[in-house]
Amino acid sequence: MRNVTKDNITDVFKSYMADDMALRTREIMSALVQHMHDFARETKLTHDEWRQGIAFLEGCAAIETEDRHEFVLASDVLGMSSLIDMLHSSDEATSSSVLGPFHVSGAPPLEVGGDMKRSFGGPVLLAEGVIRDTDGAPIPGAEIDIWQTAPNGLYASQDEDQDTFSFHGLMTVGDDGRYAFTTVKPVEYTVPSDGPVGGILRACGRHPWRPSHLHFIVKAPGYRTLVTEVFPDDDPYLDQDTVFGVRDDLVMTYVEQPAASFPEGMALSGNVDAPYLSVNFDVVLARD
Ligand code: BEZ
Ligand code: FE
Repeated sequence: MRNVTKDNITDVFKSYMADDMALRTREIMSALVQHMHDFARETKLTHDEWRQGIAFLEGCAAIETEDRHEFVLASDVLGMSSLIDMLHSSDEATSSSVLGPFHVSGAPPLEVGGDMKRSFGGPVLLAEGVIRDTDGAPIPGAEIDIWQTAPNGLYASQDEDQDTFSFHGLMTVGDDGRYAFTTVKPVEYTVPSDGPVGGILRACGRHPWRPSHLHFIVKAPGYRTLVTEVFPDDDPYLDQDTVFGVRDDLVMTYVEQPAASFPEGMALSGNVDAPYLSVNFDVVLARD
């Protein structure tokens, strides 16, 4: 096309794609460019504003390291991570939620009933539940990878004072599908806001807080792996999670229990002498 105009440029872009290109790539690139061009036309985007957008991408690339994933964070705070999750999650299974950047692979095994709290302060939280299939049957041998913040709001990978795998554990459930562990109640915390993504949050008048949560990746052969989180129903940020991770079925009541009711068969049994919290959260996995 020799005469490219603001009205035909989108069709011209599409006409330049080869006939034999991969169909899915064609579909995605056509829709992406259609929406980008429509966005520019609709907002009458200026050179300056587009340059700011490019500077944002360059800023993300400049601070990207093995431990700092600014592009993923951008996807999180723009709602793309959560939207893509929801587009592909099964209606019959427990909802999925954001993975976040603080999962560390290779967590040490944690036996059913094991303790992640160790010498950290604060009330004990007993988290337990059953990993089930969509018919309600337990899934023997399912694996649950658990991680959370310490009481100071930091993940192990952000905090020099914690061991690499502090508040991380990998549990394999028995024939009854039941997992159980003790920990401390996680606290709400802020996502990193000292980079370009923080700039977007401030420009939109948004805060960087996430409600407190436990993270789980639940896996079993023959089932879809589930990345999810559990939130307490009294968290002040439940209705304004900066990465849009909250779903109704992931919000649970943490119930205060008298010390005397602490169950047998746990690593801390016999050592809990103050009221503790408990949360019961069953996980449903969809078949592959
Ligand atoms: C997290 O929950 O760990 C998290 C998720 C998205 C962005 C930052 C942190
Ligand atoms: Fe988190």
